[in-house]
Amino acid sequence: MTARLINGASLAKTMRRGFVDRVGKLRESGLTPGLAVILVGDDPASAVYVGRKMRACEEVGIRSFASYLPATISNAELLGRIVELNANPEVHGILVQLPLPEHIDMARVLETIAVEKDVDGFHLYNVGGLVTGNVVFSPCTPYGVVKLLEHENIPIQGQNVVVVGASNIVGKPMALMLMARDATVSICHAKTRDLAQYTILADILVVAAGVPNLIIPQMVKRGAVVIDVGINRLPDGRITGDVDFAGVSEKASAITPVPGGVGPMTVTMLLENTIKSAEHALALT
Ligand code: GUN
Repeated sequence: MTARLINGASLAKTMRRGFVDRVGKLRESGLTPGLAVILVGDDPASAVYVGRKMRACEEVGIRSFASYLPATISNAELLGRIVELNANPEVHGILVQLPLPEHIDMARVLETIAVEKDVDGFHLYNVGGLVTGNVVFSPCTPYGVVKLLEHENIPIQGQNVVVVGASNIVGKPMALMLMARDATVSICHAKTRDLAQYTILADILVVAAGVPNLIIPQMVKRGAVVIDVGINRLPDGRITGDVDFAGVSEKASAITPVPGGVGPMTVTMLLENTIKSAEHALALT
């Protein structure tokens, strides 16, 4: 079996064309959607991600407001910046790029973002909403994975899903979003003994561990759908996922490539959340 390629870049492009129309309608009504992006410090990977997010905003007509803040910024100054953005009516979404420097109280930062502007979905209210089904904004990467599965007509209900990786950004929200769609979900992580014993049972395997080639063909059930969320830079500069793509493609029925799979969907869902927030703001006027 050679797996069908799940093309995230292509779906992202189609969705973004639709966003141009939605943003156009908002602008005609006198409201330009705005996203504020805060980058603290000069981590090169974070700078690349932030640049990508701002360019994507521009492409669909969302105004972006960048705050590049020094790594030495105090908690109080950073919280003050967020409070300002919360009060700014031109800003409909606020994103603080993670990770933050050690001395910054990340939990406090995320809780300071106004829930109605929390387009990353990291505020405790939104995290809790994922558990209870009252979510305002879903975190972008798992939301993008769900969109990909839906677009590919891959059934979720009743399926055995194994999520490898239990981060707050991907693994945990991913598991909750798939549970909400009635999948049977197992979560594995760095301390899981005999990972293969779990992954082999997966009808849908979502891998977000940050370990190149963690998933080899022997760990995958024939015909499984494999979603690779990993983005790893190899010593030679190439980008690779967490899955042995060539090997696993021979066993899976469908698989996401890296790059060009989940990555473009993450930014797309950020745009979607920002537009949704702006539409909500307009409805309130
Ligand atoms: N760092 C890695 N992924 C993300 C993300 O989706 N949002 C933010 N804010 N930071 C990240």
